[in-house]
Amino acid sequence: MPDKKIIAVTGATGSQGGGLVRAILADPNGGFAVRALTRNVNSEKARALQKLGAEVVEADVDDIASLRRAFTGAYGAFCVTFFWAHMSAEKETADARALAQAAKDAGVKHVIWSTLEDTRKFVPLSDNRMPTLQGKYKVPHLDAKGEADDDFKKLPSTLLLTSFYFDNLVNFGLEPKRDADGKLSFSLPMADKPMSCIAAEDIGKCTYGIFKKPEQFIGKTVGIAGEHVTGSQMAAEMGEALGDPVSYNYVPPEIFRTFGFPGAEDLGNMFHFFRDFEKEFSAARSIEFSRSVNPELQNFRTWLKENASRIPVEKKKATA
Ligand SMILES: NC(=O)c1ccc[n+]([C@@H]2O[C@H](COP(=O)([O-])OP(=O)(O)OC[C@H]3O[C@@H](n4cnc5c(N)ncnc54)[C@H](OP(=O)(O)O)[C@@H]3O)[C@@H](O)[C@H]2O)c1
Repeated sequence: MPDKKIIAVTGATGSQGGGLVRAILADPNGGFAVRALTRNVNSEKARALQKLGAEVVEADVDDIASLRRAFTGAYGAFCVTFFWAHMSAEKETADARALAQAAKDAGVKHVIWSTLEDTRKFVPLSDNRMPTLQGKYKVPHLDAKGEADDDFKKLPSTLLLTSFYFDNLVNFGLEPKRDADGKLSFSLPMADKPMSCIAAEDIGKCTYGIFKKPEQFIGKTVGIAGEHVTGSQMAAEMGEALGDPVSYNYVPPEIFRTFGFPGAEDLGNMFHFFRDFEKEFSAARSIEFSRSVNPELQNFRTWLKENASRIPVEKKKATA
């Protein structure tokens, strides 16, 4: 239909953008068409989106002209950045600003920016509870996004505060591990505090709900979560879903930071912030609101029903 409003989606072959592409295509009478941005239109994931009915175009956040071309003619743009591809806070902010600039140049009418808190508003650099990283950040992958918020606020935009994906249990090394006795334990640096989490696919579904109500959401910051869930609750529910009990193991952020893998300090500081500012973080992410823009919103239990089998848990050793 030529009169459909086009939504240009960055990160379209990834979690957040992919969820949005699928949400738009699942609603053929919703009045929107989707333009999926990718660096490689011939990749398997890009071809799969094309098969589903998306227009797929080449764009790279490192090339602002390509973003401008991809946003031209679009009514809406979903902007997400790719911190874990480079792990530089300065590049993250620069990428976000390039997205905002391209959306402005192309005259996009509604931009949704996938952002997170600038934690330095809660933990100033002088606060020594956690180390300062990359020279001037506490949680680089959060702060760098928050730093770009003002650029998006100058546009007809909605700032979308996202949450920690349940899906990190599948592909981020966070799955429960077996101890020497063969028992499963799940480590998280949250003590007994709840963490705001969401099914990655629900970020796209909520985003679509927001695009459908521009008059309500342009000029606003909104936060989404599927559940505010504690580590011990996650362990118990995973145990039930896996049919194998899981205990909760609190690893203090100070210890998590020393794990040595790339990004461990950044993530350690993130959990430290999540733990110490749990009330503020949860309050910014209403489940009621999230469900109002996405009635299919999942909590941890419903996510586990479909996804527990994807959690890469080491098999029990057979006993002699
Ligand atoms: N994991 C979490 O719990 C969590 C929670 C909240 C927020 N976040 C944030 O989410 C962001 C990542 O989003 P995601 O999880 O949806 O990503 P993702 O699943 O890792 O996918 C990212 C997609 O971005 C594209 N991409 C990578 N580099 C690009 C570039 N230079 N130019 C254009 N496209 C590029 C890739 O597509 P092509 O290869 O097709 O180009 C890729 O499919 C990160 O900034 C992270 O901090 C993560």
